[in-house]
Amino acid sequence: MTRILGIETSCDETSAAVLDGSGDDVAQRSLVILSQDVHRVFGGVVPEIASRAHLTSIVPVVARALADADTTMPEIDAVAVTYAPGLIGALLVGVCYAKALAFSRGIPVIPIHHMEGHLFATSLENPDATPPFTALLVSGGHTMLLDVEAWGRYRLLGATRDDAAGEAFDKVAKLLGLPYPGGRHIESLARKGDPARYRFSRPMVRRNDTPADPDYYAFSFSGLKTAVLNAVKKSDGTDKDKADIARGFQDALIGSLVEKTFRAADEYGRERVILGGGVACNAALAGAMLERMVTIGGRVFAPTPRLATDNAAMIARAGFHHYYRGERGALDLNAFASRPLPGLIAA
Ligand code: KG4
Ligand code: ZN
Repeated sequence: MTRILGIETSCDETSAAVLDGSGDDVAQRSLVILSQDVHRVFGGVVPEIASRAHLTSIVPVVARALADADTTMPEIDAVAVTYAPGLIGALLVGVCYAKALAFSRGIPVIPIHHMEGHLFATSLENPDATPPFTALLVSGGHTMLLDVEAWGRYRLLGATRDDAAGEAFDKVAKLLGLPYPGGRHIESLARKGDPARYRFSRPMVRRNDTPADPDYYAFSFSGLKTAVLNAVKKSDGTDKDKADIARGFQDALIGSLVEKTFRAADEYGRERVILGGGVACNAALAGAMLERMVTIGGRVFAPTPRLATDNAAMIARAGFHHYYRGERGALDLNAFASRPLPGLIAA
């Protein structure tokens, strides 16, 4: 049995978690997530404030995660930490703290790519959410469509050409006068909206697309955002208009995500779709994905909101995979704002 402490500080949540297990049989003992509320005031994450907030919270957050797991550092076998991608100052707090902790105890530090963490999140809750599967990772910073043949063997099929899916939600929320982050506000407004009033076209989806087409799996959301902006300018700004626009926007964006994910599952013969990232909290997305996947006998796994958004449990879970492969970070481990996902294979 191995016990791993996970640490995540790549953006605006300071998180620590303790997991027990061996190989792929892993159980979560604790998970602490401290969300930095201060960024709401600015309508977006302010990197320097994020770094400083991580500095003040990392020690108590780790202490709480150990206490909640009813354990202490001498019982921890390794520290898994997010080293990329993310805000460099924010990442450095986690990486430096993890290295110091590991060095002081004489245990290994295991560097984890944040997006690989998202791939593992759902498996913590559902034993069936394991490869092979098609993965759609949609957050404020990333939009990635992957074919996951096995843990550590990833085909990157598509990504966004401009805004990330969550970023599009946040920008449209701002246009509609909703608070930041706007995803869940759009979702609840869209529930009251008329789907027939604003029919924005699904970005990057054409009827005759073929797998040979370079955009077959690609995403783009900035054109949709502009279409929404034009609709907002023409509208009277009534609550009904706003709800109808939110609905039209969400339907188009989800339509694009579902179409591309379905194409990937179909092409690679996968029966499972795993969703991850903050936008995976959107029930309309999970619902539409399921509706489409059942047509090929498929299933859809979406993590609960605590594991969909940034958290250290998914980092510790990915840590098990690398720990059991004998991979260890060195003490000169650095943080990187961007870095390709490890384990990429040709698509
Ligand atoms: O993964 P996450 O917590 O942080 C990173 O960006 O890494 O994702 C945050 C994003 C935000 O853009 C937020 O608006 C979006 O996830 N989000 C949602 C919903 N809940 C959060 N988007 C659509 N519908 C939701 N219910
Ligand atoms: Zn994330």
